[in-house]
Amino acid sequence: MDSNKVRQTFLDFFKSKGHHIVPSAPMVVKGDPTLMFNNSGMAPFKDIFLGNSPIKYPRIADTQKCLRVSGKHNDLEEVGVDTYHHTMFEMLGNWSFGDYFKKDAISWAWELLTEVYKIDKDRLYVTVFEGSKEEGLAFDQEAYDTWKQFVNADRILNGNKKDNFWEMGDMGPCGPCSEIHYDGRSDVERSKITGASLVNNDDPQVIEIWNNVFMEFERKADGSLIKLPKQHVDTGMGFERLVRVLQGKQSNYDSDVFTPLIHKIEELSGLRYKPEEEDKHKKQLLINIAMRVIADHIRTISFSIADGQLPGNTGAGYVIRRILRRAIRYGYQTLNLKEPFMYRIVPTLAHQMGTAFPELHSQKILIEKVIKEEEISFYKTLDVGLKRIDQVCIDTTAANKQVIDGKIVFELYDTFGFPVDLTSLIARGYNLSIDEKEFDHYLNEQKNRSRAATTIDTDDWMYVEENRGLTESQEKETEFIGYSDLECEAVIIRYRKVKAKNKEHYHLVLNKTPFYSESGGQVGDTGVLANVNESVFITDTKKENGVIIHYCDKLPIKLNATFNAKVNTEKRLYTSNNHSATHLLHAALRNVLGTHVEQKGSLVNDEHLRFDFSHFSKISDEEINQIEKMVNTKIRENITCKTELMPIEDAKKTGAMALFGEKYGDVVRVVTIDKNYSVELCGGTHVSATGQIGYFKLTSEGAVAAGIRRIEAITSIKAEEFFDNQTKLIEEIKVLLKNPRDISKGLTSLIEENNTLQKSLQSLYKEKAAGIKKDLIAKIEKKGDVNFITHFIQFDSGEEIKNLLFELRNEVPNLFCVLAAEVNGKPSISVIINDTLVKEKGFNAGNIVRDLAKEINGGGGGQPFYAQAGGSKPEGLKSALDKAANLI
Ligand code: ALA
Repeated sequence: MDSNKVRQTFLDFFKSKGHHIVPSAPMVVKGDPTLMFNNSGMAPFKDIFLGNSPIKYPRIADTQKCLRVSGKHNDLEEVGVDTYHHTMFEMLGNWSFGDYFKKDAISWAWELLTEVYKIDKDRLYVTVFEGSKEEGLAFDQEAYDTWKQFVNADRILNGNKKDNFWEMGDMGPCGPCSEIHYDGRSDVERSKITGASLVNNDDPQVIEIWNNVFMEFERKADGSLIKLPKQHVDTGMGFERLVRVLQGKQSNYDSDVFTPLIHKIEELSGLRYKPEEEDKHKKQLLINIAMRVIADHIRTISFSIADGQLPGNTGAGYVIRRILRRAIRYGYQTLNLKEPFMYRIVPTLAHQMGTAFPELHSQKILIEKVIKEEEISFYKTLDVGLKRIDQVCIDTTAANKQVIDGKIVFELYDTFGFPVDLTSLIARGYNLSIDEKEFDHYLNEQKNRSRAATTIDTDDWMYVEENRGLTESQEKETEFIGYSDLECEAVIIRYRKVKAKNKEHYHLVLNKTPFYSESGGQVGDTGVLANVNESVFITDTKKENGVIIHYCDKLPIKLNATFNAKVNTEKRLYTSNNHSATHLLHAALRNVLGTHVEQKGSLVNDEHLRFDFSHFSKISDEEINQIEKMVNTKIRENITCKTELMPIEDAKKTGAMALFGEKYGDVVRVVTIDKNYSVELCGGTHVSATGQIGYFKLTSEGAVAAGIRRIEAITSIKAEEFFDNQTKLIEEIKVLLKNPRDISKGLTSLIEENNTLQKSLQSLYKEKAAGIKKDLIAKIEKKGDVNFITHFIQFDSGEEIKNLLFELRNEVPNLFCVLAAEVNGKPSISVIINDTLVKEKGFNAGNIVRDLAKEINGGGGGQPFYAQAGGSKPEGLKSALDKAANLI
């Protein structure tokens, strides 16, 4: 079975068991501050597990793109070293939301593996949770009894809390789990050692393939467990491991999921991937690891760029950048790939996975460009870093030391992104080692700093008992009325305290709200909760796992009171203007630049809008003009903005633009501004008709990354302010120019006049300089064989002073001249000394000028033969000259 068939078979099987099949959610999570990437199949369903969203389908199955590189589930260091962990992987999953439980989950898992995929039963082992005294949890008898119907007792193993109690994060739904392991060893090996002893023991041939989690509990902030109102099933089967098992391979990288990538890497590096030789030859082992790392990482990077997450300096972008750099480093160090190569693997990946994940095809060019650009810049960093390391090694050796300071190693790592093992390798070439302990110390310090900066302590939700069950559905899902109304009566259902960056604030959940929560680039609403007794400012509104959360700095005193929840109307209005203008802009870009333009990011607030999109060249002034004109025409047409809810299938038929990398439900909101111009899936707030936007003005255009441009623009009142300021400026200029009929002509003649004056001034300066030179020559004092001059002048051209001193130096032998000058009212001192004096007598103009500059409260420097200083105390020039007179 090829990998595509394996995937489809899984989905078909669960479809036949009444499951609704859904597409993979994007790998990059949006709208959940607690999670950067989907790290398991269940993550996109967190809101259902947490009881925040109603259950639409009690049975669901899918394959989910997952990434385990940060937070609680992090496999990064294993990747490449072993043959069965990945950064990005597909997790095949089936879910029961309050529907079937352990019995069905286990029986179906067994049926699929042994009857459909026909995996040899003798090679399977299962685990069940042994219980935990400290948690007060019992042995999972039900799971055991169910397994017992299919599997001999010697193949059912007990597992501890670490392996057999699955938790989503530090808080939230969790429960005992039952894993299925596969023993892929040869018959001979199996007869010597039983597979049972190798389960969960890091044996590369005895691996877990499927985990069935039985969600029964919720972990609270204080660490305690409470029973969930409903029981759920959450399963996850590692797709890459399953394919390997079904294709009878010893390693995930030998299955058809990875072999095309490995072959491409072989072709690029001219080296061979030989897993059979890695035990014998250390060098081959390193080559194999490097190839596995690259084959793994290219998937992660490509999928995340396709999902709209570009490499960057912060957050998710930084994680992706580090993974890309990790792969480049392996290529550079081990495979001798000294120029960009990762981007050249992208077509192979797109060819191989593009059917299941069409985004790889549609975004191929962008993915390649972004990766290539990143590679070029990292190679430069590597180059600079390499030179720096060489210098450090030379300096360390010169200082008679054998160990490079950990601080320097850390600086190389931190500033140049330079891996510590590479630094160590190069150091060894100089017979040096590195101070690893000190390096670790600095690294930990940095980690602690960033942890302290990002730690958010969240208390458990507290319910306002009087308001509970007030409306049962509202307790789960706040009624949002903010598309049509900007205020309403509301009560607080629950609240919690949050401590972030050492500051406390509160989260409130209301039964009903007009507050729009940040999403789709549009900022969250601010406003106020008020009644006759008190009022509380709402500083922001965000959504977390499907719940609309109102942020405030203090809690209302009377939590069970009724409030008037009122949005800051002005802010909302201007934000809506900018959001609708963003849609008009998006359509204009596709009209003017082409339909390759795809939205890659956006920010909409009451001040301005920012729009990132794919496009490969600078936008010309002409194009900008066309774009602005098109948007403003659409504004003047005063088109009614229509919003409708419809099934996603219908929306697709209207040709609505959807953002790739967004998670959309079955029913979507479609925003139409002229059905032939702009139709987009969007949850944001919009104007009722485009005339309200007033005017659109583009304020900047530039690049954010390879192939991604950014436009910033303003509308309505901000555009008006902009034009007001421009008009005012022109008026001011007019007044300054004495109201010419044509300002542009007036300015041109002023500039021309200025140029002529400059020329005359220059020749006057030259004349004056010649006079000064004569004066200086007349002032020469013979001090031994030195021709010594000290002199004061007032002269407004610093440039000419320098020129005349250099001329003097050519004309007067053994010159030593100190010139004090007032240049445009500012004191300055210049010292020029003949080369012979510098060499033979050791005079140094730089040192001298620094000393003299003290008299004018200034400083300066230069070379031994010429130096210059400026200061702030003109009256000190005289004492500087006196001081100079004593120098010889
Ligand atoms: N959520 C479970 C896991 O990730 C299935 O292992």
